[in-house]
Amino acid sequence: MGKVKITETVLRDAHQSLIATRMTIDEMLPILSKMDKVGYYSAEVWGGATFDSCLRFLDEDPWERLRIIRREMPNTKLQMLFRGQNMLGYRHYADDVLEYFVQKSVANGIDIIRIFDALNDIRNLETAIKAAKKEGAHAQVAISYTLGETFTDEYYVDYAKQIRDAGADSICIKDMAALLTPYKAAELTKAIKSKVDLPLQLHTHYTSGLASMCLLKGVEAGVDIIDTAMSPLALGTSHAPTESMVAAFRGTEYDTGLDLVLLNEIRDYFMTLRQKYLDSGLLDPKMLATDANALIYQVPGGMLSNLLSQLKQAGKEDQLTEVLQEVPRVRADAGMPPLVTPTSQIVGTQAVFNVIMGERYKMVTKEFKGLVRGEYGRTPVKIDPEFRKKIIGDAEPIDCRPADLLEPELDKLRAECADWMEQEEDVLSYAQFGQVAVKFFENRRNKKLGIDSAHADAASQVHPV
Ligand code: CO
Repeated sequence: MGKVKITETVLRDAHQSLIATRMTIDEMLPILSKMDKVGYYSAEVWGGATFDSCLRFLDEDPWERLRIIRREMPNTKLQMLFRGQNMLGYRHYADDVLEYFVQKSVANGIDIIRIFDALNDIRNLETAIKAAKKEGAHAQVAISYTLGETFTDEYYVDYAKQIRDAGADSICIKDMAALLTPYKAAELTKAIKSKVDLPLQLHTHYTSGLASMCLLKGVEAGVDIIDTAMSPLALGTSHAPTESMVAAFRGTEYDTGLDLVLLNEIRDYFMTLRQKYLDSGLLDPKMLATDANALIYQVPGGMLSNLLSQLKQAGKEDQLTEVLQEVPRVRADAGMPPLVTPTSQIVGTQAVFNVIMGERYKMVTKEFKGLVRGEYGRTPVKIDPEFRKKIIGDAEPIDCRPADLLEPELDKLRAECADWMEQEEDVLSYAQFGQVAVKFFENRRNKKLGIDSAHADAASQVHPV
């Protein structure tokens, strides 16, 4: 046991969870040099939905954001979140694009890459781990935490061993849906730490009101690093407050060594931002409330609100209970995937169709077919071949690593966006966000030419992860 280390998430997950990832670099800039003096283990500042939000909503170059943060925080390790073979986008990319993305992320300032896969299929992480190591970055692999009879301590320990054997530098328990409870956190920590000798980090959300207790019990059981957020953007769907956790461990064997007075000065700055977000309506006070729905229905909070809005659109709001009963059945049919982007949307949408059509699998979405066929990788439980046949018909099931079926695509992508490129990194923005990136490039060019143009405003739903 030793000092507990802190990863500060206020510049990434906290605002992704509370205000749909809308914090701008101009809002961050005044406080970055002070944050650099805290002595955090790391600051999570990039990846997840930040990249998408920069291009789609904020008219900001995500690469430039990273370079500015790097410049202002020279003494703090910068961390990003990375969805394995999906990178920051929504499909599988060929290895050459992934390797180039990792190379450029590190070159622009990233020290720690947290990589995860929605299905906990280690094959979807291997290229990213190797690429991170090759560039001299710290490769952390996050376990997507979920519930269900398959997901015993043994399951997680087995996956942790696969992660270690794949060459990762550390492991994170990623409880994106706030399903973890304090004693479970302790049990799981002990199980993993007793079999796998790597630093262990705990990431959980405050949604159901248990996060600080989970972190405390986790630390007592051997967790080395915890994720927290500066208090003005903590609680609710975000994380446990940094200052509270620092205070909780002060004077104990777990003492973080961080200065509460300095943290309080930083808090003052983020309080002004919080007030601004409340005044503009960007921060809905509902997001700050405790909500135990996730624990009751075992579905992430974001998924529940999605199901409700899909039912409303179909004029079938009264069938929410049926849908909530159908979700675990669909999930079982589909091989028990953890419910996180993109599997939460795929399973949820299929459950809605099964209920409102009055017949199960009368209508099957393209994405659900893909999941059952193996396009996203190997599901935690083998899918019944008869069920698979019913869903995908004569299509060939995919048993290999899905990215093995992809041809190199970097040169083709580069050719497609050649007219817009002002920096090498632009091809990676284009690879992941296509027309959204082009719109950003167009605005950027127009601004240089002095032409005023409207900002991109396409609607998209981004959930905390
Ligand atoms: Co998260």
